[in-house]
Amino acid sequence: MRAVVLVGGIGTRLRPLTYSVPKPMLPVGHVSIIERLITNLVGGGVTDVTLALGFKPEPFIEAFPDGTCAGAQLRYAVEPEPLDTAGAIRFAAEAVGIDDTFVVANGDVLTDLDISALVDFHRSHGAEATLHLIAVDDPSAFGVVAIDDDGRVRRFVEKPAAGTEPSNLINAGTYVLEASVLGRIPTGRKVSIERSTFPAIVAEGLAYAYATDDYWIDTGMPDLYLAANLDLVSGRRSGQSCVGVHPAASVHPTALVERSVVAAGTCVANDARVVDSVLLAGATIGAGSCLSRSVVMGRIGAGATVHDSVIGADGAVADGEHIAHQRRPDPARP
Ligand code: GDD
Ligand code: MG
Repeated sequence: MRAVVLVGGIGTRLRPLTYSVPKPMLPVGHVSIIERLITNLVGGGVTDVTLALGFKPEPFIEAFPDGTCAGAQLRYAVEPEPLDTAGAIRFAAEAVGIDDTFVVANGDVLTDLDISALVDFHRSHGAEATLHLIAVDDPSAFGVVAIDDDGRVRRFVEKPAAGTEPSNLINAGTYVLEASVLGRIPTGRKVSIERSTFPAIVAEGLAYAYATDDYWIDTGMPDLYLAANLDLVSGRRSGQSCVGVHPAASVHPTALVERSVVAAGTCVANDARVVDSVLLAGATIGAGSCLSRSVVMGRIGAGATVHDSVIGADGAVADGEHIAHQRRPDPARP
């Protein structure tokens, strides 16, 4: 089975982290999101993965120098300009000659979904497109899907206004598609699979959906990216875990690290306290500083306190400074 993974978005909501690293290349529990995602695809029978690239393609190509990832053959399709989700799928599928049933995944989603079960469901229902669904409390930030008892999709509405959602089931970002879907996507311009292609397939009664209660998280926002990491280190994710402090991190013996992920190539000085946080390669944490619920790539000064903040590779917190709910550099400033 072949798959197309969408990894060409610019990762706006994860800025400033994505100024230096494209979203799917960010690590979750020391392993990149894309590698975790492909590992799950391979577990479900995918053997060949095409990365639909646009924004910052080089880090992906450099990360897998032998052209394989988790045992899958990797291929790359780099869009000349962003084509949005459906445009990217068609561009990538045609670049590698996909002409049969295939899998598509949003490149920022981590899930334990059994892909082979999704493919079986798709085939047994004679669907043209089958979507994986997850139930959430607040669906309005997602594609929201209403289904009949047999799984046929009645309605797909992308990011409806709060209070108008037709159900609490959301598009979880993994699909099985027939090659015929490609012919529905106009070429040479941006096309959204969520806003145009799926609604058209739904109108013809050919879209089905498969709801599960598997582990699922879209890592594309700072609090969720943090949660995806903490889920692994706290044992909240059944069957998967990670060490908190990577053996190649430099953590002073008097520093305290609690419920946090500390990457290789970070430096935590004496008496620093790091709680419920993620330190990424390049982070330096000053002596006696105190960090909580934050993601850091940059420099935290001595004696600083940092709460619920995101510090990018070029971000810094001065010695003795106290901050909360900030992003540095601030993506809102030009
Ligand atoms: N190649 C390419 N080109 N990839 C793109 C482009 C593009 O122009 N635009 C977006 N992508 C990729 C992103 O990199 C990401 O992996 C995926 O497409 C989805 O884009 P997001 O920006 O993360 O979308 P979202 O999270 O707001 O919503 C999507 O995911 C939700 C589930 O997490 C939608 O599919 C929703 O319907 C869904 O509920
Ligand atoms: Mg997303």
